[in-house]
Amino acid sequence: MLQNLIQQLENLEGHQISLGYVAEILERYIIPIPEAETLTIGEYTSGYRKFPVECREFNVSLIKWPPGASSDVHQHNGFWGVIKVVKGQIAEQVFEFDEPDRTLTMYDSDYIPYGPGDVLLEETSAIHKVVNCSTSLEAITLHVYYPVIFDYDNVLLFDLERKRIGILNSEATGSCWDNQPHAFHRVIENGFRLVESEY
Ligand SMILES: [Fe+2]
Repeated sequence: MLQNLIQQLENLEGHQISLGYVAEILERYIIPIPEAETLTIGEYTSGYRKFPVECREFNVSLIKWPPGASSDVHQHNGFWGVIKVVKGQIAEQVFEFDEPDRTLTMYDSDYIPYGPGDVLLEETSAIHKVVNCSTSLEAITLHVYYPVIFDYDNVLLFDLERKRIGILNSEATGSCWDNQPHAFHRVIENGFRLVESEY
C-alpha cells in the first residue's frame, strides 16, 4: 500500500533527512502494480503525466510514461529525489554542463535500463533526462523529492536539438519546455555545444 510508504516518510518529520536514507526506504518498499495503475488512471497530457500523492514532508508523485516518452534534459536547483520503477523499464541519461565553456557533455555509458523494483537517485544539482525505454509499453515510476516545497526557479532546461537553454522562474509548473513563456526568466539561443562522452 502506498499509504504505508507515506506513513514511513511522514515519520521522518523532525529527523535529519538524507538522500541515502530515503533511498533505503524506497528500496525496501514495494507498491503493487494494480494499485499504481489505479492511482494513475487518465490520459497522458504531454510527454508523461504526473499524479501527485499527498505527503507532509516530501513531494511525492506517480508518473505514467507512454511508450517512448522522455523528460526534457533538466538541472535540479537544490532539490533531490529518488525514483522507484514500478512498471516497465526506464533509463536515465546523465549530462554535465561546463558553464564558462558552454559545453554540455552527454554520458552514454550511464544509459542503463532500470526495471521494476529498481531505484535511481537524483542528486541536488543533477542534469539528466529520464526515458521510457520501451516503444510499445508504458512505464510507471514513483518519485519522492525533498524538500516538500520547492519551485522551479532557476532550473535549467537544455534543448538538445535547437541548442537552447531555458531558465525557468517560480511560475513554472514542471521542469519542461511546455511551460508558458512567462514561466521563463529567459531562453538563450545557441546556448551550448553538445559533446558525447564514452565514459
Ligand atoms: Fe530530475
